[in-house]
Amino acid sequence: MKKVITYGTYDLLHYGHIALLKRAKALGDYLIVGVTSDQFDRGRGKLNVQQSVAERIAAVQALGIADKIIVEEYEGQKIDDIQKYDVDVFTVGSDWVGKFDYLREYCEVTYLSRTEGISSTQLRTEKNDEISLGIYGATERTVRFLKESRFVSGLFVKGAYSPNTRAAEIFCEQSDIEKYASYEAMLADTDAVYIFDTIDRHFDLVMQALEAGCHVICETPLFLSEEQTEAAYALADSKGLVLFEAVKTLWYPAFQHLLLLINSGVAGTVKSVDVACSQIPDDPDFLSNPYEGSLYDWGTIALLPIIKILGTKYQDVQMYDYSRDNFSYLSQGMLRYDSAIGTWKAGRGIKSEGELIVTGTKGYIYVPAPWWKTEYFELRHEDLRATEKYFFKSEGAGMRYEILEFVRMINNGNLTHYHYTREEMRTIAGLIEKFDKREVISF
Ligand code: CTP
Repeated sequence: MKKVITYGTYDLLHYGHIALLKRAKALGDYLIVGVTSDQFDRGRGKLNVQQSVAERIAAVQALGIADKIIVEEYEGQKIDDIQKYDVDVFTVGSDWVGKFDYLREYCEVTYLSRTEGISSTQLRTEKNDEISLGIYGATERTVRFLKESRFVSGLFVKGAYSPNTRAAEIFCEQSDIEKYASYEAMLADTDAVYIFDTIDRHFDLVMQALEAGCHVICETPLFLSEEQTEAAYALADSKGLVLFEAVKTLWYPAFQHLLLLINSGVAGTVKSVDVACSQIPDDPDFLSNPYEGSLYDWGTIALLPIIKILGTKYQDVQMYDYSRDNFSYLSQGMLRYDSAIGTWKAGRGIKSEGELIVTGTKGYIYVPAPWWKTEYFELRHEDLRATEKYFFKSEGAGMRYEILEFVRMINNGNLTHYHYTREEMRTIAGLIEKFDKREVISF
């Protein structure tokens, strides 16, 4: 009996898939179809898949062409499968020509011609109207945002505006997008806006965008006070617009799993969360703007693990601050809860080990530096040999995951993050506010 194997995502199953599966089956007597798991697709940066693995498997099964369906979960699994099922022929569509030649060592490899004029990507795009987006700012970060946005279907960057006219010119020309003469002109011409600026400028820029009817994705931390947070969300809600804080860390699969794992109690009861983040930017210019300083810059990220794990109901807070020439290099602080402690260390123009440690009664979670963009963490116990290691791949430094979520929220008419509550946002804004009002002990 000649066994054939093929793999795919099979999202929104279409006639191109069916034609391929029929031809694959005709290459032998028995067809095995590998359907990618949700996790595997996310890990390889394929983010816009609309159906869950269960739905995609059901659709392939209903065709009655496959003799066996398996789930593809990890890099390198194809070799395992070929050996395990004693496969004679590996096949995929011609879009993959050459990519799987390395499997010739294990079986025959055949590329079948792809059906013209149809793909899951095309179907996904047709399902929703494309959201047009304008970028406020022209920096290395906005270039990255633009690149990352191209991995997310359903959104296209129409143009950009920056008060720095020269930078805007270069950015727009190099990226082949429209250069707007003013922020107002951009807002009038787009459905959504991405804002990159320092925290002191966010409130005005966000309010103006919401007033103009644009959905907003704005860099973190969002605002300088609880009042600004309340006002902006009230306006967004009343207009049915999404206001999204771009906290990349939240969307890293590893960080999400870490939170789930802690909730499952594997580390016991959490008694302390210790967070450190620091950065010395390349360009020394940052020192001239106080709002580039420690907690103004790190705010949400530095406080996020504490607030997510220990909650919003802390008893009191103490903040220490090291500033010189009106610039805060280091903010350290402690949040005391009923029965736990959270500490943070946030530095700009100063460097320390950027790790995250969650201390529990049964063990602790250790996330190595830089924890805020991690793919990896460990659950450690008294006996170090019992350490469990967790690895979750993420492509593109987290940005594509948050853009995807932003697009999903707009398309689903969903105004609240499911990973980041309003209460959490308000609590973090309140802490930044204390810092801003200098309720700190200086040293
Ligand atoms: N395929 C095909 N003809 C098409 C589309 C897909 O022969 N028009 C084949 C692919 O070459 C692959 C299999 O179907 O062997 C599963 O492909 P998959 O990536 O799931 O489908 P696509 O439509 O290409 O999806 P996407 O647009 O997300 O890349």
